[in-house]
Amino acid sequence: MVRRVRRVGELGTGLWPSKIVDFALNPRHSKTEFVGVDSLPKVDYGRLLRERGAKEKPTNLTVLSKTDAVAYLLARPANYFSHVYAHFLLQHVGFEVRKKLHAELFRTLQPGARFTTVDEAHYGPQFRSELVAAGFVVKMKRLTPRELLGIGSENSKMNAQAKLDMAKNIRLLRLTLTAKSFQAALDHDKRVSIQAVRQKLLARKGNQTPEGRKAVERMLSDPDLMYSEKPFVRLIAMKPR
Ligand SMILES: C[S@@+](CC[C@H](N)C(=O)[O-])C[C@H]1O[C@@H](n2cnc3c(N)ncnc32)[C@H](O)[C@@H]1O
Repeated sequence: MVRRVRRVGELGTGLWPSKIVDFALNPRHSKTEFVGVDSLPKVDYGRLLRERGAKEKPTNLTVLSKTDAVAYLLARPANYFSHVYAHFLLQHVGFEVRKKLHAELFRTLQPGARFTTVDEAHYGPQFRSELVAAGFVVKMKRLTPRELLGIGSENSKMNAQAKLDMAKNIRLLRLTLTAKSFQAALDHDKRVSIQAVRQKLLARKGNQTPEGRKAVERMLSDPDLMYSEKPFVRLIAMKPR
């Protein structure tokens, strides 16, 4: 019997691609090929290998810097990947490029295989509808910061920690302030957050895609989501068999 090679890809690994390095170092996955790509000039996985006591790069790991995710997928044959994931990447990619990315993901994933992504909850409905339009069957789940911590990428840890710190500060405020002044402090904090998002939007005026604008407007119209129990989202997009 010919066994199909298991190939897993990570798009937009970031500077420290801890997730794909940990996967490749795990003896349970020694027969799986892992490839991580990022458009950054250099992805520093050497430090991660040293920290984990690895003497050399595992033979089943390839990390490509200066590599655009769409260009990388375009050069792969159809039905190539057993699984692809991308954490906090899609919000950095414009709508037109995302459409190409989703189409290429659909082409290069094997039937029944999945693309998973995590991001801030505001982007969930937009990304879900784009992935459905590309042909995927999509499940969407809102995540707590603790659930996001378990995902393991550097940005997942950083974003989850920021929300956990915010929740801790809010709990402290609640303990130290009267109900009325607590509400006033919380409202003030939300107003500052909304202002920060609005400033970002203004700064990007001109090169903002309609969808990017929609995502930011959604954020502005529902700032409570940023303060909710589940401020993140995971999308699992399956290519039908
Ligand atoms: C917010 S970081 C997330 C990094 C990592 N996934 C994590 O969760 O820690 C987004 C990364 O996507 C990369 N990126 C953005 N657009 C890209 C593209 N078109 N192709 C490849 N990488 C891209 C950026 O260079 C950046 O390292």
